[in-house]
Amino acid sequence: MVFKKILELRKINIAIDGYSGCGKSTLAKALAEKLGYIFIDSGAMFRGITHFCLINGVDVTDKKAIAEVLDSKPELTFKPVSNHLLLNGQDVESHIRNDQKVVSSVSFVASIPEVRTYLKELQQRHISGKGVVMEGRDIGTVIMPGAELKIFITATIEERIHRRLSQLSDQGVTILEEEVRNNLIERDKADAGRDVAPLRKASDAICFDTSNFSKETQLEAILAIARPIIEPDYYLPFIQ
Ligand code: DC
Repeated sequence: MVFKKILELRKINIAIDGYSGCGKSTLAKALAEKLGYIFIDSGAMFRGITHFCLINGVDVTDKKAIAEVLDSKPELTFKPVSNHLLLNGQDVESHIRNDQKVVSSVSFVASIPEVRTYLKELQQRHISGKGVVMEGRDIGTVIMPGAELKIFITATIEERIHRRLSQLSDQGVTILEEEVRNNLIERDKADAGRDVAPLRKASDAICFDTSNFSKETQLEAILAIARPIIEPDYYLPFIQ
């Protein structure tokens, strides 16, 4: 899809939410790249706080201790181009993705109100200038309620299992299908069932079931939805 020159386009913010394993990150990253926008992976920031707790010897089941460690104001930023998470300037991307202690504790850490308040402030620093694609669970509802475009991504559980298995197999990891299924179901429950900022579709979000879409056609579909918003004088071919 060919857009007008970037300067003629209206800059907007785009919120992408949805369950784990629906392909949100890949889509959000590709969309940001195509539009020349900043991409913010908010889940990486929750993982970063979890890693910060672990390297400081904080018990990641102790809400009070986790809330207290935030007093030292850990800085979370993203490295340009690679988008790797930087914790106090250090690249921690491999830790936040591969450390099983981070992976198994992050849902609990993300349920703590103090952690969410701390990250909300960091996440909202990015949005005033527009031109942001942010991906997570509460972006359309809490972090960017004023986003001009909100997408809620879904996919069938079978498709999500299939995608997760092939992603892990590409990384040389062998895992039982049943384990992946249980893990996804547990994460869904934790994300949608917590008291603070649970995963919800914003009332003005567009629901997009990606089950039968390739990565390329997902991007094409979202660009088609975004186009009339960012290119104000563009109108659909059948409206003459
Ligand atoms: O998207 P992810 O798997 O990297 O997210 C890691 C965890 O953080 C997961 O348990 C969901 C949670 N999360 C959240 O609660 N709110 C967000 N905006 C993003 C992620």
